[in-house]
Amino acid sequence: MPVREWDGASYDRISATMEALALEVLERLELSGEETVLDAGCGSGRVTAALIERLPHGHVIAVDESPSMIDAARARLGPDADLRVADLLALELEKPVDAILSTATFHWIADHQRLFARLRAALRPGGRLVAQCGGEGNIEILRGRVRTVLAREPYARSFRDWQPPWNYAGPERTRERLLAGGFAQARCWLTPAPRQPEAPREFLSTIVLGPHVQQLPGELRESFMDEVLALLEQPVTVDYVRLNIDGVA
Ligand SMILES: C[S@@+](CC[C@H](N)C(=O)[O-])C[C@H]1O[C@@H](n2cnc3c(N)ncnc32)[C@H](O)[C@@H]1O
Repeated sequence: MPVREWDGASYDRISATMEALALEVLERLELSGEETVLDAGCGSGRVTAALIERLPHGHVIAVDESPSMIDAARARLGPDADLRVADLLALELEKPVDAILSTATFHWIADHQRLFARLRAALRPGGRLVAQCGGEGNIEILRGRVRTVLAREPYARSFRDWQPPWNYAGPERTRERLLAGGFAQARCWLTPAPRQPEAPREFLSTIVLGPHVQQLPGELRESFMDEVLALLEQPVTVDYVRLNIDGVA
């Protein structure tokens, strides 16, 4: 069961900040241009497009569990792109790939142990995993402000048995899980990456606070965002802390 619904077209429009973060991660993946690479959690395909450019004689398989995201990626990348709707936790590929790139995705997945075992199974021996996702301490300041609003009525009643969906793991535990999942080598580290998105309201309501907004009845969503934004300093800074992963199968 996905932890949230995505609107691929909105994500595509508003995700320049995420793309900029992801392109830095892509720089870590050395490529000759002939490899087959999996984009794990490709979203609307902005990062997939950059990956395809770096592989003129290679192949990109882009996987996402959200049909709406894959529709947006199809619109961006055209009919020949190899795009697949699939859950990474149940990933099956015909042949092992040379590398996996994943950005801003793993923190949406609760079971990292199973995830890493699936990714390891999708890689050839010696294949590389280069990834980044939200890590320990991610958006702590923002989450604190949001908790203040969640405690107020009429919002509180929609969040009584609700848990935030994110899995913000730390580097040591992640390294252990990668090795337990069959990776031969793993290096994991945290980087603070505060960002000031251009359209903070839409960025927060579409991406960062999407799960909260979706939990509320339609008529409360705008006032919820008003109250969150009123508690944030200007310009709005999203206090990202990213977990970086470099693994070798
Ligand atoms: C924030 S988007 C990141 C998209 C893109 N990689 C980027 O950096 O902009 C997270 C994506 O992860 C996908 N996702 C989350 N859990 C997944 C899973 N278990 N299997 C496949 N995709 C998943 C979501 O559907 C969503 O498209």
